[in-house]
Amino acid sequence: MSIDRLRAHYGFTKMPFGKDLAPGMLHAHDAHAQAVARIQWCIQEQAIGVISGECGAGKTVAARAAVAGLDASRHTVLYLGTPGVGLRGIYGLIVTALGGTPRFHHASLIPQAQELLAAESAERGKRVLLICDEAHLLDGDSLEGIRCLSNMGMDQTAPFGLLLLGQPMLRHRLRRGAFTALDQRVAVRYAIGGLSATETSSYVQHHLALAGRSDTLFSDDAIELIHGVSRGLPRQVNNLAVSALIAAFAANKSIVDESSARAAVAEISAE
Ligand SMILES: Nc1ncnc2c1ncn2[C@@H]1O[C@H](COP(=O)(O)OP(=O)(O)OP(=O)(O)O)[C@@H](O)[C@H]1O
Ligand SMILES: [Mg+2]
Repeated sequence: MSIDRLRAHYGFTKMPFGKDLAPGMLHAHDAHAQAVARIQWCIQEQAIGVISGECGAGKTVAARAAVAGLDASRHTVLYLGTPGVGLRGIYGLIVTALGGTPRFHHASLIPQAQELLAAESAERGKRVLLICDEAHLLDGDSLEGIRCLSNMGMDQTAPFGLLLLGQPMLRHRLRRGAFTALDQRVAVRYAIGGLSATETSSYVQHHLALAGRSDTLFSDDAIELIHGVSRGLPRQVNNLAVSALIAAFAANKSIVDESSARAAVAEISAE
């Protein structure tokens, strides 16, 4: 099968359900809008926010969307996408991102990160947002170190906004005794759930329209099946929709019908 033949067969201008949508092209379902609004609030108020959700629910996409609208001359976004680097790695990343050279000794690296963060807001007048993605994987030391960072200074206003993104277990971890100090300072919490059946349908149509097909390509029962199996989680919807599309193409169908969707489900459950 060639992708070009599939594209031509369905008249796509590009392959639908791709991962790299520009922020302005995203689908605006409720959970997405709710998450984005809370992240924006964390940025404006320099508060701590926790956004949780299952794999592929749309956490990283929501953070990207919220950040995309920021005026770069007034904001600095620090994105930590690799939680396994440990506390030293996190502080080192912050220092490097803010233009410093990480000091060797732990005891001096911590104040160095704090000073650079404080200078970013105090001297450059910038709002800083620290995003820790995959935060459910942060070890205890890292969480404690992040809390220390957010707790610095004598005044009440934190020098940066902090966003923790992670799978649902993140919320349970934070609630455990050792992290209550951090947990109590969390101002905004939001759990991104799956799309509703109506939203899944409009989500699929949205991706198809971006690829040049605004008419009906997936039958209603195909979308219903995809919704049920994916529980409305966008990444799973994408995966199932692509498999169903390929199945329909291989069977030389002009519509992605329920049997194509069933083939996609069988493929994914067989993994
Ligand atoms: N609002 C949206 N509009 C269009 N596509 C979306 C939207 N939200 C999510 N997606 C799609 O779902 C995929 C998964 O989203 P994302 O990577 O944000 O999930 P995640 O919650 O961060 O998952 P993980 O826990 O695995 O990191 C994206 O690559 C994108 O294709
Ligand atoms: Mg993610």
